[in-house]
Amino acid sequence: MLSIILAAGKGTRMKSNIPKVLHKVNGKFMLQKVLENTSLFGENLLVLGHKKEEIISLFPNNNYIFQEKQLGTGHAILISKDEIKKHDDILICYGDGPLLSKDTISNMLTEYKKNNLDSIMLSCIVDDPTGYGRVIKKNDIVIDIIEEKEANNTEKLINEVNVGVYLVKSKPLLSIIDKLDNNNSKGEYYLTDIVKLLHNAGFVTKSILLKDKNEMIGVNSKIDLEFASNILREKKLLKLMENGVIIIDKNTTFIEDDVVIGKDTIIYPNTIIQGKTTIGENCIIYSSRIDNSVISNNVKIDNSVIEFSNIETKVTIGPYAHLRKGTILNENVHIGNFVEIKNSTLHKNVKSGHLTYIGDSEIGSNTNIGAGTITCNYDGKNKHKTTIGNDCFIGSNTIFVSPITIGENVLTAAGSVITKNVDDNMLAFGRAKQKIINKKIESE
Ligand code: UD1
Ligand code: CA
Repeated sequence: MLSIILAAGKGTRMKSNIPKVLHKVNGKFMLQKVLENTSLFGENLLVLGHKKEEIISLFPNNNYIFQEKQLGTGHAILISKDEIKKHDDILICYGDGPLLSKDTISNMLTEYKKNNLDSIMLSCIVDDPTGYGRVIKKNDIVIDIIEEKEANNTEKLINEVNVGVYLVKSKPLLSIIDKLDNNNSKGEYYLTDIVKLLHNAGFVTKSILLKDKNEMIGVNSKIDLEFASNILREKKLLKLMENGVIIIDKNTTFIEDDVVIGKDTIIYPNTIIQGKTTIGENCIIYSSRIDNSVISNNVKIDNSVIEFSNIETKVTIGPYAHLRKGTILNENVHIGNFVEIKNSTLHKNVKSGHLTYIGDSEIGSNTNIGAGTITCNYDGKNKHKTTIGNDCFIGSNTIFVSPITIGENVLTAAGSVITKNVDDNMLAFGRAKQKIINKKIESE
């Protein structure tokens, strides 16, 4: 089967510089949501036009056809004729329908095969059909779809609408495809006209009703985008709770589709978990943002931001820590308030409780980093590494001018600027000696 996905439109109603199908719903491109499902049934053909390079760069492994001028959904199919010829069955859907599920496609396909239909379309009964194509039936057979702009007042009252998913045998489709025209009020080639053309040529189109109405939304505006995104968000949260995750307030929790969370982990309000993040069991997460990170079991994260990091078991983080790309925290590490870490590995039991920057560093087990410690990893041109051994005690306000290597069991005096390597078991003292001067004598 070939799935043709229409994604050439500019999406004028989105009022955006981003192509419509590259808007995200609960963290995923709309087009990605569609492709994840259609890919299960065979090959994809994307009809692209507006900003096609941008779309191809994000979805490089598909077949494409270029619709130079977006003359309508029917025109998008017309130009796909040569590809249609190569397949027996064609699924057509829109790139702006990200909520469609694989089960719905699967149900359609079963019905289509079982009854050996020429064509089947997905419809839905809605309270407010405004904006959607109205489904015209005669004895259970679909004979036409009338677009909003073309509908008369009686037709406008019909509340069975076209969702925009069609399955059709390629031979009947090819036999009528050239009859599509743009004689309508929008001057566009309407794909929906294929139903009427098929009927006139003696082919039968049936409809199947969508079970979950939420799936039908076609995203045309930013208002639709918020609506669709929230449906997916809620679905994801319910699934996580079913699997044993504790979510304190689902209205203020944002967890994207691909996130995995273990049981009895507690997610407090105002938490955002993004990308391919995995979180283990029995963690506690207070109002944080976690992006593309792997978090083990029994981790506590408080009001912090964690990006592209790896956190082992029993680590505590925050409040107000920022772990940037490439942070690896091993078992039992403690990171306290206002600590920023980037591209660094902290081994077991390291503690960095307050006001610290650790960049491009490796810190050995059991080392204690005093308040205000800074690794000066950047000389204005290049980044350099700081290595600190096991069991060190780094005094408050130590500055490490990297590249630099500190041995094991080293103590640095508070307020030191450390510019030279330090061997094992040494005390490094790098600050001006304190002088005490009698104020009176001085001023005389
Ligand atoms: C379409 C249907 C309508 C249905 C609704 C469901 C038509 C004529 N109407 O209306 O019956 O109820 O979807 O959401 O099909 N596109 C192209 N090339 C074009 C024009 C559009 O690739 O020349 C793409 C768009 O990028 C979009 C999709 O086709 O992804 C649908 O187009 P859109 O303009 O949003 O159609 P609707 O007016 O929503
Ligand atoms: Ca649409």
